Amino acid sequence: MEATGRTALSVCSVLFILTEVSSEFIHIPSLVHHGIEGKSVLLSVETRFPLDDVEIQGTWSHTTPSGIRTTLVTFTKEARITDMMHHNHLLFKEPNVSLLIQKLNQEYEGDYHLNLNIAFHNETGRFIKEGRTVHVTVDVPVSSPVVEKSPSYAVVEDKANVTWTCSVETGTRVVFQWLRNNVALGASDRYHFTQDNSTLLISPVRKEDKGTYHCVASNAVSQGLHSRAVELNVYYGPYNLEVNSGQGLRTGEVFTINPGELVFFECQADSNPPNSYVWMSKSRNTTQVITVGPRLEVLSYRLAQTEEYLCRAFNNKTQKQDEAQFTLVVASFGTGKEKHSQKGSPVSPLAAIIVCSLFAIGCMLLFFLRRTCHPKRVLMSIYNRPLSEQKRPHRSGHEDATEDFGIYEFVSIPGKMESAQASCRSLARLESVQDMHTTIYDVIRQVPDTPSDSLVC
Ligand SMILES: *[C@@H]1O[C@H](CO)[C@@H](O)[C@H](O)[C@H]1NC(C)=O
Ligand SMILES: *[C@@H]1O[C@H](CO)[C@@H](O)[C@H](O)[C@H]1NC(C)=O
Ligand SMILES: *[C@@H]1O[C@H](CO)[C@@H](O)[C@H](O)[C@H]1NC(C)=O
Ligand SMILES: *[C@@H]1O[C@H](CO)[C@@H](O)[C@H](O)[C@H]1NC(C)=O
Ligand SMILES: *[C@@H]1O[C@H](CO)[C@@H](O)[C@H](O)[C@H]1NC(C)=O
Ligand SMILES: *[C@@H]1O[C@H](CO)[C@@H](O)[C@H](O)[C@H]1NC(C)=O
Repeated sequence: MEATGRTALSVCSVLFILTEVSSEFIHIPSLVHHGIEGKSVLLSVETRFPLDDVEIQGTWSHTTPSGIRTTLVTFTKEARITDMMHHNHLLFKEPNVSLLIQKLNQEYEGDYHLNLNIAFHNETGRFIKEGRTVHVTVDVPVSSPVVEKSPSYAVVEDKANVTWTCSVETGTRVVFQWLRNNVALGASDRYHFTQDNSTLLISPVRKEDKGTYHCVASNAVSQGLHSRAVELNVYYGPYNLEVNSGQGLRTGEVFTINPGELVFFECQADSNPPNSYVWMSKSRNTTQVITVGPRLEVLSYRLAQTEEYLCRAFNNKTQKQDEAQFTLVVASFGTGKEKHSQKGSPVSPLAAIIVCSLFAIGCMLLFFLRRTCHPKRVLMSIYNRPLSEQKRPHRSGHEDATEDFGIYEFVSIPGKMESAQASCRSLARLESVQDMHTTIYDVIRQVPDTPSDSLVC
């Protein structure tokens, strides 16, 4: 008993060793085959031993995906037995032991297992056991995919969903892919794919979804069949409204142009379909339409000193609009070198500044004179001042001399005190001309802060 046990053990270990080195005797180039329905597939085997010097005995068997196992062929060097059920489909290839499967259909999917025993003539008792598994799939090729879009018409951004469907007439285990402008689309917040990607839902549609769409259908035996291109048009905008001009000096929303200059303004906004543009003038407290279209032409001598303009862009598909407002100031500014050399304007900016300064000094003197002579007027404005304004930080009128300087020219306007006080409260934060009024008011207000001063007067 013990002896037979030991023998069995040694036989097993010998077998184990032999099986270890056996891989050099057969080779299977491809372990996976993608078969096409109706066509054939060759489960190719390369033998690496001289057939004349060995005896072989083996089987090819098939296991379906559901696990049913059938022996297809049993063979030796001299004979073979093919399963009757599969006779028409199988061709056993000698001298190697390849198996050709013809007229493939879905039944032939699954794993094919080759078992091979090789006995050598030159070494009595030496035999090798080989086993290999090859996987076979059977598919129907994919026909040209057809893409459909719902709705078929152009849609408005953020207000619609679009469903894309890709379908094929024939093809098994088809997977789909979607391309916009030839770039593959991945899943995102707004892109929803079905299991096989045959349907893509875009919800909601955005500006960036505009483009040309394709679907690509493929399976194991058909690579990347493209559908025809379908356009998605998305209405959007207007976005990024801008007013630009080649001429003049621009500072924020203010354009300064030379007197007599012809200036063009261009209004632009990103929009689909293109916007309609309307230009409006806001002078004299009323808004009136000047012109339509993206371009505005202004001849500066027709203007008052300052004028407010407005460009309004309207998209009649999205029913959205945007507008940009700007101020046009007519003033000599001689920026361009050519202007300086060509005309040499009669009043240079430096001269203007000097004249203004002199005028300001004159006015300041006048103011001092007036204040000395009319203390009552100053007192009146103390009492007219609303209480709420007392909160502002206390400043005595004459310590801050730098602030006082150069402003007094406007104070000399007669009879404007009350109206200036009224408007300045509301316009306190505005810039430009109105800003000067504010400053005037500040100066007047500061005076009563030192009542002792005025009383002494
Ligand atoms: C096996 O033999 C068949 C028939 O001669 C041949 O068509 C096939 O190419 C061979 N395969 C290999 C891997 O040599
Ligand atoms: C027997 O034949 C095989 C295959 O040709 C060879 O690999 C092996 O070396 C041979 N053995 C002897 C003892 O000649
Ligand atoms: C778009 O789809 C969302 C859900 O994804 C739905 O709530 C909405 O009503 C749809 N809009 C339209 C216009 O069909
Ligand atoms: C569906 O498409 C997405 C994005 O392109 C991809 O990641 C995924 O693998 C696809 N699914 C199938 C089943 O092809
Ligand atoms: C909408 O705007 C486009 C482009 O400005 C224009 O061609 C079209 O006539 C407009 N349609 C209507 C209904 O106003
Ligand atoms: C000018 O506009 C203001 C505020 O919008 C309004 O109170 C005033 O009545 C308008 N004046 C004229 C002359 O239209």
